[in-house]
Amino acid sequence: MTRTLDYLLDRNVAWSLAKTRDDPAYFRRMAEQQSPSYLWIGCSDSRVTANDVLGLDPGEVFVHRNIANVVHTSDLNILSVLEFAIQHLRVRHIIVCGHYGCGGIERALSEERSAMVDHWLQPITMFHRKHRAHFDRLSSRTALLDRVSELNIEMQVRRIATMPLVENAWSRGQDLHLHGWIYGMHDGLIRDLGPHVSSIEERDALPSIDQRVFHAEEPASGLRRHALEAFGSLKLTDDLASPSCCMPDEH
Ligand code: CO
Repeated sequence: MTRTLDYLLDRNVAWSLAKTRDDPAYFRRMAEQQSPSYLWIGCSDSRVTANDVLGLDPGEVFVHRNIANVVHTSDLNILSVLEFAIQHLRVRHIIVCGHYGCGGIERALSEERSAMVDHWLQPITMFHRKHRAHFDRLSSRTALLDRVSELNIEMQVRRIATMPLVENAWSRGQDLHLHGWIYGMHDGLIRDLGPHVSSIEERDALPSIDQRVFHAEEPASGLRRHALEAFGSLKLTDDLASPSCCMPDEH
């Protein structure tokens, strides 16, 4: 039986050596006070680590994660993180980033109700039940899970925007922006779903999350929007724009 985790500690030594070899000042910089500009609120899923998917060094993003990136307004953990991030670190951006293929969302929509996690996921379960007639019209189970994943992120951004902590920061004139993002496990890309909220006025102008359910938007809308923008920005060469192999003969 393996009673110690020496292989992990060995990996740590190798990592520390490699870091120091590449950048001798790395750990001296890290030992200084952190001053990240971003707070990331994400899922606990082991595949979605904020620093990795954003390509940021430690010290650049303050992180809170839980199953299905839920913001419970009575959760002491997230309230403490938000208070520290806003009042002491003075982050400028709070990002709620969920992900497609989230096991937490799948669980919330299942009939299983036997574990503590079902209490945690209750807001998502109730939201799905409330709009079940609409969600049942989606074309597939994947479309349903994708859409609920997206709406869950929008819901959590709205919840943060109503917190006294955040309202007080805006009232003080603090520069603080809320964002809703979703990460695609299959391509490693993040989609900007919105909403973007930077003031009490912007928050009050948002449609409610219930209205958003009926918004005529296809499932995986973030994915679609991102793909369209990516293709739109491509500069096609003449050869690519009109490939001679496939064009009908005009002669
Ligand atoms: Co997840």
